[in-house]
Amino acid sequence: MASEKQLVAVTCTAPVNIAVIKYWGKRDEDLILPINSSLSVTLHQDQLKTTTTAAISKDFTEDRIWLNGREEDVGQPRLQACLRETYALARVYGVESDLSEVARRGSGSACRSLYGGFVEWQMGERADGKDSIARQVAPESHWPELRVLILVVSAEKKLMGSTAGMQTSVETSSLLRFRAESVVPARMAEMTRCVQERDFQGFGQLTMKDSNQFHATCLDTFPPISYLSDTSRRIVQLVHRFNAHHGQTKVAYTFDAGPNAVVFALDDTVPEFVAAVRQCFPPELNGDKFLKGLPVRPVPLSEELKAALDVDPTPGGVKYIIATQVGPGPQILDDRQAHLLGPDGLPKPAA
Ligand code: DP6
Repeated sequence: MASEKQLVAVTCTAPVNIAVIKYWGKRDEDLILPINSSLSVTLHQDQLKTTTTAAISKDFTEDRIWLNGREEDVGQPRLQACLRETYALARVYGVESDLSEVARRGSGSACRSLYGGFVEWQMGERADGKDSIARQVAPESHWPELRVLILVVSAEKKLMGSTAGMQTSVETSSLLRFRAESVVPARMAEMTRCVQERDFQGFGQLTMKDSNQFHATCLDTFPPISYLSDTSRRIVQLVHRFNAHHGQTKVAYTFDAGPNAVVFALDDTVPEFVAAVRQCFPPELNGDKFLKGLPVRPVPLSEELKAALDVDPTPGGVKYIIATQVGPGPQILDDRQAHLLGPDGLPKPAA
């Protein structure tokens, strides 16, 4: 009993973010410093989140870590880098501004998940990375009509991880260097303006162009890296035909280091776009589970739009859709029940 009292546990949830100006390439592999700034949208934790419990106790004799219930090697360099930063912070406790440095040492893009809403990761210039930090551009309440649809596509093969992929790109792609030096700085300014003014046309077009340029740098990498699948390319075509039919940018895609599409739209466009996705990718077995997350009103597709889409349906190409929106940053859970670790400091059995 005495030892249980010594245990202090904190549980926190953190959001997922999706970049609309992509980070790809490091100028310092150890400190995880990027070759260009990036900007992302934080997704709502009602649909997607990670939950972490950290516990300390005088009775613990070693550091241990579990990921999705499985124990991992606590000696991994990136984990060690994060722990070192955290210990340093604990000593100076309460120094919030250094937190993006901690998150960045785990995974570069993770530092943008420290805030809700719209977040930029400023690349910084200093060799020690002290100015390579995340900053909120606008809060989650800023653009309430913005919706995010994640189109989950079946992965056809094992993909190259982003850490190794971007390292090869930095070594071999001249397009990547050009992008970082001559394209991204102006795009960061333009994207910030689009967000601030809630300009969906500009936001959507720039999001698609930046995703396309990121994937172009992957193809310019030697040997080339290709993250998009046939279904990803069909989604690209669907979005452009949908927009052409409406004569304006109503939906916009972006793809990270994998084939799943993340699609942005304003709330009044979502029902029709989801109907268009169902038309192009008829749900296979899980028809009723095809749409997860925020409710979407079913609507019929007009004959004109059906004709404009002009596709041979690919059944099961999109496995399911998660409908979500812009959300807040990390949250601390006060409820003791939420702890993933028991009073002995070991993972609680899965419910
Ligand atoms: C394509 O943050 O996963 O998602 O810093 O090596 O861990 P490391 O890479 P990671 O790269 C993310 C790349 C991206 C674009 C982005 O999120 O900006």
